[in-house]
Amino acid sequence: MSYKKLLPKLDMDRLPIHTGIIMDGNGRWAKKRFLPRLQGHNAGAKSIRQVTELAVEIGLKYLTFYAFSTENWSRPEDEVRGLLKLLKERLYEQIPELNEQNIEVGFIGSKSGLDPDYLADITNLAAMTKGNTGMRVNIAFNYGGRLEIVEAVKKLAKENPESIDQLTPESFADYLYTAGQPEPDLIIRTSGEQRISNFLIWQSAYSEIYFTDTLWPDFGKEEMVKAILDFQQRTRRWGGL
Ligand code: IPE
Ligand code: IPE
Ligand code: MG
Repeated sequence: MSYKKLLPKLDMDRLPIHTGIIMDGNGRWAKKRFLPRLQGHNAGAKSIRQVTELAVEIGLKYLTFYAFSTENWSRPEDEVRGLLKLLKERLYEQIPELNEQNIEVGFIGSKSGLDPDYLADITNLAAMTKGNTGMRVNIAFNYGGRLEIVEAVKKLAKENPESIDQLTPESFADYLYTAGQPEPDLIIRTSGEQRISNFLIWQSAYSEIYFTDTLWPDFGKEEMVKAILDFQQRTRRWGGL
């Protein structure tokens, strides 16, 4: 079925404002085809495009893609190198289209431990989309939720130590990488794994979580609409009645 047939079922007044996606299963997708893992990552990059296109089509405001975790450094060196290269190249290719579609790209993650040239390159690439107002796409790279919280505490202690006594969950959130952005309403994880893997652990306190067995390279517009339709069936209570 084409995703277009599903679109009329969407309640446009109840779209998730921010959706986070744990893109998992690239390796298994490649393995099933007797391909190297990197081919799986390459195929996964196409899914990012598809989902972003759909998001533009229906008017989502924030998307966060979990691209590389602080734990992913423990993978074999050639896979890590390949993933980093892929991320930079695919982003570079898409800059004109992103600007055409008024999409701002930003990285969330730790800057520490990164190769300075690489960090400068991806920072510059993201800056080329700065000021676009249609949609914000976060790429979680060298991202770990625990490290994010630790870095936030360090920043707070350095910049504003006298404010510690007045600290609230709301004011603390201003020190996270996602400062100023709404928390994710919906978090999607592909590939059948049902865990958070250190993704947005602070921000996901009240996110609706959607798991699908579909491997990330097989996830496209139709799957994205299905996830949102599922989200729209949920009753969010935030602890109330
Ligand atoms: C992509 O899927 C997630 C990234 C870390 C880039 P995986 O590479 O984890 O794929 P599986 O889980 O081995 O199938
Ligand atoms: C989570 O996937 C990280 C990203 C999607 C970038 P992993 O494949 O690294 O997670 P685990 O190891 O299965 O928890
Ligand atoms: Mg995985």
